[in-house]
Amino acid sequence: MPIYHAVGNIPRKRHVVFKNPKGGIYYEHLMGTTGFDGPASLLYHLRQPTQVIREKVLKPIPWEKDPDQRVRMRHFRLFKAEPGGSFVMDRMPVLYNNHVAVSWAQPTSTDDFFYRNSQGDELVYVAEGEGVLESCYGELPYHQGDYLVIHRGITTRMKLGKGKQRFLIFEGSGYYRAPSKYRNEHGQLMEHSPYCERDIRRPTELPVYDEKGEFPIVVKRQNMLTEITMAYHPFDVVGWDGYYYPWALNINDFEPIVGSLHQPPPVHETFRNDRFIVCSFMPRLFDFHKDAVPAPYNHSNVMSDEILFYANDEFMSRKGIEMGSMTVHPAGLIHGGHPGKYEGSIGKKETKEMAVMMDTFDPIYVAKDPIAVEDMDYPRSWLPKE
Ligand SMILES: [Fe+2]
Repeated sequence: MPIYHAVGNIPRKRHVVFKNPKGGIYYEHLMGTTGFDGPASLLYHLRQPTQVIREKVLKPIPWEKDPDQRVRMRHFRLFKAEPGGSFVMDRMPVLYNNHVAVSWAQPTSTDDFFYRNSQGDELVYVAEGEGVLESCYGELPYHQGDYLVIHRGITTRMKLGKGKQRFLIFEGSGYYRAPSKYRNEHGQLMEHSPYCERDIRRPTELPVYDEKGEFPIVVKRQNMLTEITMAYHPFDVVGWDGYYYPWALNINDFEPIVGSLHQPPPVHETFRNDRFIVCSFMPRLFDFHKDAVPAPYNHSNVMSDEILFYANDEFMSRKGIEMGSMTVHPAGLIHGGHPGKYEGSIGKKETKEMAVMMDTFDPIYVAKDPIAVEDMDYPRSWLPKE
């Protein structure tokens, strides 16, 4: 998130001698995007962050599409997928194209290695669970409803807390940012934005690990996981400052925009990536025109595939979904509320729905993996019951 932030000890000037009181100097490390022109931070390590002992290929990540790619409505009950394993190694592929890959993880133990995605930015929605996102930028506690934005190249580890852990991960080819319509020319979120800088959480605690040994980092690049082993603990940063770091926004801090008549999905936009957006549908008062129809009209999203993840058991225009459901409404079909939902919404005062939506600007494939938890009746669920 492009807001200046600083944690720990840093020298007054950049690129100058920064003495370590134990002797020697700290090692400066610039981490940034778009050559040297994009958001960047300067970190100061105890040791040179370049000391790799060895590397080995762990596994390719062969995302395979569902062989049945008929254009149809899809519904997956992701909570029914088998939990277990690692946040990094045991993600279930769900949807993908060249610009975004959506996966589902329900890890049961904290990894004994670190992780660095050097292929894409990750947006992790915490459907259930709590813990701490550890990184070389410090600690960022997480809890249910958090969006964790982990820009590419950042070394992290998810330290799982108590209870079930369920994560929906949107890996994007571009940089995650707040929609430009909510930012002024100086980058600040404006008064009409549904969230502001005060809602954004940044790392504040910076434990410094002064440890030598063998420390594996799983690096994702070119759809492959490689383990690199470092000669020191990667979280040996004594201070940093800049604009490039992991950050969090809780979905409950997204204040919905309402109107006298139905507001279209762009009012729910929360994050933008290069070829898709992510929106938050939050509990809100319904439209207040005396003749308003609050439920959405039928629509053809002719240039987008629409993906919805249901963060609770309610959605104003749908039946038969539950918390953890994911629906895919591809371009090529007209979609709208389930029978009775359109008329039934007239006169209603509020909705308690909560959902995370992704609209892609390019067609997306359903992977073969979530078929096991698919609701096969969903494509016909708009037909009147006999
Ligand atoms: Fe839609």
